[in-house]
Amino acid sequence: MAGYLIEDEKKITSTRFTQMKAQGKKIAMLTSYDYTMAQIVDAAGVDSILIGDSASNVMAGNDTTLPITIDQMIYHARSVARGAKRAFVICDMPFGTYQVSREEGIKNAVRIMQETGVDCLKLEGGLEIIDTVRGIINAGIPVCGHLGLTPQSVFKFGGFGLRAKEEAEANKLMNDAKLLEEAGCCAVVLEKIPAALANKVTAALSIPTIGIGAGNGCDGQVLVGQDMLGMNKGFKPKFLRHFADVYTAITDGVGDYVRAVKDGTFPNENEQY
Ligand code: KIV
Repeated sequence: MAGYLIEDEKKITSTRFTQMKAQGKKIAMLTSYDYTMAQIVDAAGVDSILIGDSASNVMAGNDTTLPITIDQMIYHARSVARGAKRAFVICDMPFGTYQVSREEGIKNAVRIMQETGVDCLKLEGGLEIIDTVRGIINAGIPVCGHLGLTPQSVFKFGGFGLRAKEEAEANKLMNDAKLLEEAGCCAVVLEKIPAALANKVTAALSIPTIGIGAGNGCDGQVLVGQDMLGMNKGFKPKFLRHFADVYTAITDGVGDYVRAVKDGTFPNENEQY
């Protein structure tokens, strides 16, 4: 029953998003990259839709998020923003658009906001990008942070493994989370870190933490839509739950179509003019 989880139809804003934590309401976020999917997940009751730069992997078949460009992200984000009526819509700033300088980061942030109609931008990192984060927020743009496994730094990390297992990295992550909150971020994504650390960060912040592979103690959860719908057979990390088997549903539907075309039963007389 689509929509039965929606308490009220009002559009979710950055302030309401942050208030959800104070009210003890868990936040359900999913990625989408296109209009049709955004319409479905919005009507089904997600609080937030992320146009992740994981579009690079999921939509384009790349191994990492690094190749996706600002123009490609704008295309995906504009499509999603048209489809999402209620959810708080967050767009990733892609690799290279905010790391070079504060000025360039602010310019690119303004461009994404102007050309897409999204509600918020997400940037990966803490101390290293904090001046840029402040500048973007000063320009009036809501920002969501992203700490832990930050896939744009995969080559620095040497892979997609669990982050912040050691004390030094865990301490840095906690400090970065506090810096992002002080800078005015409306939320922080915590990716692939020990649940105990995510719990500590969640307790230390008044803005919501949104976990992916960060345990049950976060204020919300985010998953890649295609992954949680079971569309990608080859990808099943420990943190991922399949909530549907859309791979099989599509395979069965396409198989039925092919058979019906080949045996001449599609279209029938009611399906022609
Ligand atoms: O790009 C993305 O989909 C993300 C989520 C996995 C948090 O950043």
